[in-house]
Amino acid sequence: MTPLNEVIINKNTKINPIWIMRQAGRYLPEFREIRKQNPDFINLCLNEDLTSEITLQPLKRFDLDAAIIFSDILMLPYGLGQKVVFKKNFGPKLGELNLNEIAKIDEIDFIEKIHRVYKAIKKVNLDPILKNKNTIGFVGAPWTLLVYMINQQSPKKNLKVNFFKDEYLINRILLIIEKFLKVHIKNQIDNGANIIQIFDSWAGLLEKKDLPNYIYTPTLNLVNYVKSLNVPVICFPREIKDYKEFYEIVKPDAISIDYNVDPKLIIKETKIPIQGGLDPKILLSGKENLRKESLKYLNIFKNHPYIFNLGHGVLPETDPMMVDYLVKLVKDY
Ligand code: CP3
Repeated sequence: MTPLNEVIINKNTKINPIWIMRQAGRYLPEFREIRKQNPDFINLCLNEDLTSEITLQPLKRFDLDAAIIFSDILMLPYGLGQKVVFKKNFGPKLGELNLNEIAKIDEIDFIEKIHRVYKAIKKVNLDPILKNKNTIGFVGAPWTLLVYMINQQSPKKNLKVNFFKDEYLINRILLIIEKFLKVHIKNQIDNGANIIQIFDSWAGLLEKKDLPNYIYTPTLNLVNYVKSLNVPVICFPREIKDYKEFYEIVKPDAISIDYNVDPKLIIKETKIPIQGGLDPKILLSGKENLRKESLKYLNIFKNHPYIFNLGHGVLPETDPMMVDYLVKLVKDY
């Protein structure tokens, strides 16, 4: 069994597998090289030769336990026909959301637009470097995708005024998102993804009273769907107001925590496998500090099924040598 499956399925506490959110990305010079020649991010995500190469780049450098496919959560709105561009130093910018147009899209149109993501997964999976390692497929959670599709850009701290005004629109879009997320998940699994992570990056924007409607119900539907396909599912509801209530209702196979979660508190509350936590900014400090902070997580989770990861994506300004140091430290623990 792969190290990640040992932890997630067998609840093995003797090993600490490691992978890193955004492990394939801008902190790697070999990625920046490819990116420079491919200024259109969506086109890059649709080039299976390049995305499979990028996905494998961090595994060639470090002894990571999983590949996460190089793609983006915004391939879903793109597949639904909404315009998506990535502007330098700004982030994603989406086009106007047209419900009538999106409602017309069927499964075949959607797959036609993004099938190269699946081809990349297939290619990655065939690489011998993945022996005894996992291939992680991923999606954005319905709430986070809804935020991008309606807000048309990152909400940073605030949603558009009147975000919730048109309840009819929101509920229709949520159902469409859920339907196509299932299609997207199924196709990733059929092509070799053997763990699914659900990223809910903007879970923290919601008040507690809105969590059932926008997060618990739609995410539970997806989690149950992934489970029905016999693949483990990890949820990352970043900065959600109530982690405990989330995993008690949604019941993912593992929960990924952000760096504001107190590891000592969460370990008292749950038996489900835990992933992540370390603040990515720690990788910008010195080795001694990185060692101290990483050991803190490893020691606290010593007798708990734990997958080492960060509390959010690795920052572009990170020195790859620090990642190397971290991976070795976790492996030697
Ligand atoms: O290595 C991996 O983790 C796999 C690749 C991956 C990317 N995006 C590539 C990417 C994954 C898992 C994502 C998920 C994603 N995308 C999330 C959820 C996780 C999170 O960060 O909260 C979100 C919210 C997005 C949407 C998105 N994509 C934003 C907000 C941005 C711009 C911000 C930024 O970091 O530049 C992106 C662009 C993006 N997606 C990049 C990468 C490597 C940077 C693109 C570039 O090279 O310019």
